[in-house]
Amino acid sequence: MENKRSSWGSNLGFLLAAIGSAVGLGNIWGFPFKMGKSGGFAFLIIYLLLAVFVGMIIMVSELAVGRKTKLSPIDAYQKISKKFKWIGWLATIAPFLIMSFYSVLGGYVMQYIALNLSELSFGGEQIAISGSAAFTAIRTQPFGAVVFTVFFMILCMVIVQGGVDSGIEKFNKVGMPALFVMLVIVIIRSLTLPNAVEGLKFMFVPGYAVAAGYVAEAPDVVSVLGLAGGQMFFSLSLAMGAILTYGSYLGKEENLVKNSVIIVAADTLIALLAGIAVIPASVSYGISQGLSPAEIAGGLGGPGLLFITLQDVFANMGKIGPLFGVIFYALVLIAAISSAISLIETVSAHWIDKDLQKGETDTRKRIVLIVSLLIMIPAALVAADGLGKSSFTPAALMGIQGNVPDVIGDWLDFMDTFSEYLMMPLGAMLMALMIGWELDPSIVLDEVGHGNSSKGFAKFYSLCVKFIVPVVMAFVLAGSLKGNCGGSATMWYIFAGIVLVGFWIFAAVGKKKAEE
Ligand code: PFF
Repeated sequence: MENKRSSWGSNLGFLLAAIGSAVGLGNIWGFPFKMGKSGGFAFLIIYLLLAVFVGMIIMVSELAVGRKTKLSPIDAYQKISKKFKWIGWLATIAPFLIMSFYSVLGGYVMQYIALNLSELSFGGEQIAISGSAAFTAIRTQPFGAVVFTVFFMILCMVIVQGGVDSGIEKFNKVGMPALFVMLVIVIIRSLTLPNAVEGLKFMFVPGYAVAAGYVAEAPDVVSVLGLAGGQMFFSLSLAMGAILTYGSYLGKEENLVKNSVIIVAADTLIALLAGIAVIPASVSYGISQGLSPAEIAGGLGGPGLLFITLQDVFANMGKIGPLFGVIFYALVLIAAISSAISLIETVSAHWIDKDLQKGETDTRKRIVLIVSLLIMIPAALVAADGLGKSSFTPAALMGIQGNVPDVIGDWLDFMDTFSEYLMMPLGAMLMALMIGWELDPSIVLDEVGHGNSSKGFAKFYSLCVKFIVPVVMAFVLAGSLKGNCGGSATMWYIFAGIVLVGFWIFAAVGKKKAEE
């Protein structure tokens, strides 16, 4: 039975697919916009520390659990821990929720490609459409948004139906190098615009964002932790079952630590490059329009960055603008597809595995079709809502009016908050609790050992999974909640402390019981 289960054609194919899963809207949109929101350099440093001490550890753990069990998340967790088997459900429902808005954003990106293509074919005779006009039009046309969401879903579905090696791996082998080349082209254009250096200073000079008036004051650490932590998990596709699922198709001889380092490094590099492509161009455009630093940061720091500010940048580049628009939005589309297919695969893998166990081998196409259709139900709601432009936002349905918190302001934020800001940090914390305290770090280290690993790594891993990951995750969770619910930083520091104490008590009681 086991040898009928899918597997990667090569380690390189796996790496490109995992990098494809990691590199997505999170890198090209989320990273620059969150960096803009929390004042440049401070965000960058916290992000990098989190990626090494937490992201890497969870990545190795997920790959090891996947490869050890050769199962999809629900059965994988069930196999290694009775107490924590429901983390597997968390890691199957969360990707489903993410897809409900990711597919809508993928559809938006397709609309921007079409828009820039049409401007290109008019040869500049037609007046370029401004970002805000385009975005308002898209958000207020529910039918168009739903149609493009369905297009995006069909594209992804066909790739996943093709299988792990001849669908997902093949797409990424072409898509990832293409994405890289296109990104370099956009970076060259961005950095040769007037005042581009100002954007680089915003990103890389410590304290510059505050000193130059882009942000009023440096944000508190817990807020930046929440933002950078959520971003890091989302960007690396962690605590969502995707990396675990991809790991379950990996051969025993492959080196999990080396693979994790490559995936984390590549994802971080692309996020930085995307920042260098997007931020200097937007700052240059803002200066040319006579905007103040605070107004420029507003354009960088909001969800409008991808769909308003950047469209304005291309619309104001003259005749050649739409061409760069097409290249840019096409690379965003490749990034979105390569991530979406990992999410669809993660949800589908559970039922594909179940059928395999029953001896049914040819059910992938049917299962992927059903999963895709199911995703389209909440996706249609998110698409028709147009980011809160509808009369059926969560707040409206609850009868709440006036200034409502983001989470219930529109359906996209609603799905995003639950998956990215609650399920992800919670899933990661529980995973650390399970591996570090209920079981033993050796469960991962033994599996890692198949591909050879050093003693130094074993020590580093145990220390991180037992202590550093839980502490950091408690603060990330607190920061996420603060970002969504408000309240003072002190209150959320105390919350993180309580969560941590609960964590240790739970761990100690569990350990004692296991020893009895
Ligand atoms: N990593 C993707 C991004 O940065 O856009 C999103 C994502 C893919 C999140 C797969 C979670 C996941 F399991």
